[in-house]
Amino acid sequence: MHIDLRQQSHTECLKRDRSEREETDAEGLCTNIASVLDGLPVRCVGEWAYDKIYRLVQYFGIFAGGMKKQWDALNYIEIGSGPGRCIIREDCTEMDGTALAIARNLQFASLKKAIFIDASSRVTAILNQRLVSLGSTPTAEAVVASYESPSDLERVIATVAPRSLNLVFIDPTECDVPFIAIERVVRCLQNADLLINVALGTDVNRNIVPAILSPTHTKAREKYESFLGTPGFCAREEIIELAKRGDHEALRRSFAEAYKARLRDLGYVHTDIRSVRHYYYLLFASKNQKGLEFWLKSCKIAPDNQREFL
Ligand SMILES: C[S@@+](CC[C@H](N)C(=O)[O-])C[C@H]1O[C@@H](n2cnc3c(N)ncnc32)[C@H](O)[C@@H]1O
Repeated sequence: MHIDLRQQSHTECLKRDRSEREETDAEGLCTNIASVLDGLPVRCVGEWAYDKIYRLVQYFGIFAGGMKKQWDALNYIEIGSGPGRCIIREDCTEMDGTALAIARNLQFASLKKAIFIDASSRVTAILNQRLVSLGSTPTAEAVVASYESPSDLERVIATVAPRSLNLVFIDPTECDVPFIAIERVVRCLQNADLLINVALGTDVNRNIVPAILSPTHTKAREKYESFLGTPGFCAREEIIELAKRGDHEALRRSFAEAYKARLRDLGYVHTDIRSVRHYYYLLFASKNQKGLEFWLKSCKIAPDNQREFL
C-alpha cells in the first residue's frame, strides 16, 4: 500500500546538480531549495526516507486504531521531529516528513496530544507553522528540547496526561541519544511503546571500528557506550576481536544485542528490528506482547509492497 505524503516533484531542485541539492545548514535544512507546497524550509534526505515514514505510519495506524478504546488517552511523542517536509536528494521528490505524516493520518484524531521535539528552535518554529496550517494544533505542538538534556526532555514529556498510553518515536541521525534519556522518558511516561531509529548501517558501520581500535577516538567510544548505556562495551575482548577482523555485520549484531539487553532491563522484553534499506534500523520495543503483535502486523507488507517475512 502506498502512503500519501503529498509527494511532489521539485522542478527547481531537478535543475540543480547533486552538490547544490545537498547544501544544507547546521540544522540539516536545504539552503538552496524551499518547499513547493508552502515555501518553508525542507530537510534534505536520502531515498530511504519514504521507507522509514511508511513503517512508522503503518504502525501508528494499527496502534492508535487498536488502543484508542482501551485507554483514557493516547499520545504520540517524537524526539528529533524535523521541520515536517523533506526532499529526497536523489530524485527531488518533496514529501511530508514523519511529523506531518502523523498529523495527517486518520488516526491522529484518536490522540489526546502529539508532541514533536527537536533541539532546534528554528526547526520547531517551521514545524509549528505547518501544524497550524493543517489545523492540527492544539493537539499537536512542536517543542524545543534536547535529548542531551534528559531533564529538559522529561519536563516536556511530563505534560502528557497520567495513565495514558504513549508511542515514542526517536529519530536521531546518529547513535548519540544517551541511554539515560530513554530511561528518563520511559520512567516518566510509564506506559510507552518505543520505536527507535538506530543508525547501524551508517554511523555504527562507518565509525565503530576506529572508535574501538584507535586510542585517540575516546569521544566516539564514549558516544557509543553512552548510547548503549553500557560502559566498557568497546573494551570487551570479543568486540575488539570483531573490530580487528573488520567483521562489521557481527559488530552491528553485537551492538544491537547490547542495546536490546539494556531495554530489557527497563522491562522492554518484546523487541523487533527492521532494516530501512540497510542504512537505518527501526527498533521496536514494548513491555507488552500485544505491542509486538501490532508491530509485526504493521510489518506484513513492506514499503515496496512485497509481503515481508516475519
Ligand atoms: C533524522 S532528522 C529527523 C527527521 C524527521 N523525524 C523526519 O523523518 O521527517 C533528526 C532531527 O533531530 C534533531 N536533533 C539533533 N540533535 C538533537 C537533540 N540533541 N535533541 C533533539 N533533537 C535533535 C535535528 O534537528 C533533526 O531535525
